[in-house]
Amino acid sequence: MDAFDSQATNSNSIPNTVSNSYPHALSIVRMLKANLDELDSSSKIRVLECGAGAGLFARHFLLAAQEEGILQRLEYFLSDIAAHSLRQIQEKGILEEFQHLGVFRLVTLFLPNFDSVFDLEGNQIELDSLDLVIANYVVDSLPMIPLKKKEGGCFDKLQLKISQNQFIQNQNLISDLGFLSRLNITERWVNYDLAQASEMEKKYFHILESSASHHPVGEELRFNYFILDLMDSLKEKLKPKGLFYIYDIPSKQESKKHYYFFANSVANLLNEELIVEFVRSSNLTILARQDSYQSNLLIINAEQPKHDLVEAFKSEFEKTCNINVFNEIIKMLNVIKSPQSVELLKFLVDKFQEIDGKSALSLTAKGLYYEAIKDYDTALDIYLAVRKIDFLNECLIEAKINKLRSLTTPKTSFQIL
Ligand SMILES: C[S@@+](CC[C@H](N)C(=O)[O-])C[C@H]1O[C@@H](n2cnc3c(N)ncnc32)[C@H](O)[C@@H]1O
Repeated sequence: MDAFDSQATNSNSIPNTVSNSYPHALSIVRMLKANLDELDSSSKIRVLECGAGAGLFARHFLLAAQEEGILQRLEYFLSDIAAHSLRQIQEKGILEEFQHLGVFRLVTLFLPNFDSVFDLEGNQIELDSLDLVIANYVVDSLPMIPLKKKEGGCFDKLQLKISQNQFIQNQNLISDLGFLSRLNITERWVNYDLAQASEMEKKYFHILESSASHHPVGEELRFNYFILDLMDSLKEKLKPKGLFYIYDIPSKQESKKHYYFFANSVANLLNEELIVEFVRSSNLTILARQDSYQSNLLIINAEQPKHDLVEAFKSEFEKTCNINVFNEIIKMLNVIKSPQSVELLKFLVDKFQEIDGKSALSLTAKGLYYEAIKDYDTALDIYLAVRKIDFLNECLIEAKINKLRSLTTPKTSFQIL
């Protein structure tokens, strides 16, 4: 997580601000609620989050579940491949206020293997009967192969060559966040030989073939075979009507890009069509939507989605997408610099509170406003509260606290000798 930091020097804005946002968590909780059966109102609601990273999304999900009145029924499994991240979540107390309720557990899970899940003490955990599985900005971390269609049903695959490999030795990927974007990478297309491919690629190649059948020769596609295997294993773990939600960076049809660098991490773009093709062949259903900020895919373990769920999906992502409002407010807040714009700042901060009264970012925005009107004591109290819950922006908040402490310390105008 340190190598994937908000202080990265490259120009792509890091999408985890949006994926982890409170409005996003609230939208998912509302969809989950819309999908629950009213008859079953006493049973546990089992949720698995994959690749939970710094735990901010989990925190917001639990807060949103509280707001929507389903917190006590939750069994939330917060998982990541990295036990280190999970320990940091524990040590920093990100979910401390929910600890006594016993509504969450921290577990290691190496996608796509859902049968090998352990808690931090090493006890094996059985994951089944899940109501909801969340892959929030995670699928792009999984292997993918860019392919180009040739005549006769064959493909070329993209290979990357990194020159100047003397760079790579002894490189500190945490202190040098611009490292990946400085690499000299050349790309070339070579023949994709299925006989040499991994077992997983072979197993799902027919899905790629059938989704590629609508595309002309020469077109580039992405073979996200890991996500197909993941969905395949997940079918048995989901309850009937259970949900699998994927949130990721949108991939644009017209763009030839297959991957992005965010600081020192690589994000592989999705091939949404491939996922739709898999769903079509597996008695599942999908609700999908994409804009320039995000791709939202909701896969349902049923042949027909519930009417309430379809409506919730539409109202959360299509009619009034608060996730996008959130994103745009953050961008605007970052450009307001002049003290003359304080009214504009107030307007944005109030709007921010309306869609997200809970997250560290909305609190920080409130702090900015109090700083702008020179109410330093209130601003300092706000930043101290933020420091307790924001793990990713620790350095930034610390700097603000130090600056305000120096401004609020009473100064003596004379000394008695
Ligand atoms: C881009 S980060 C996203 C973190 C968080 N969900 C967010 O939105 O900020 C991807 C996360 O997926 C985890 N991850 C990567 N590959 C994984 C795998 N094969 N199995 C489980 N987790 C994985 C990483 O450790 C990391 O925490």
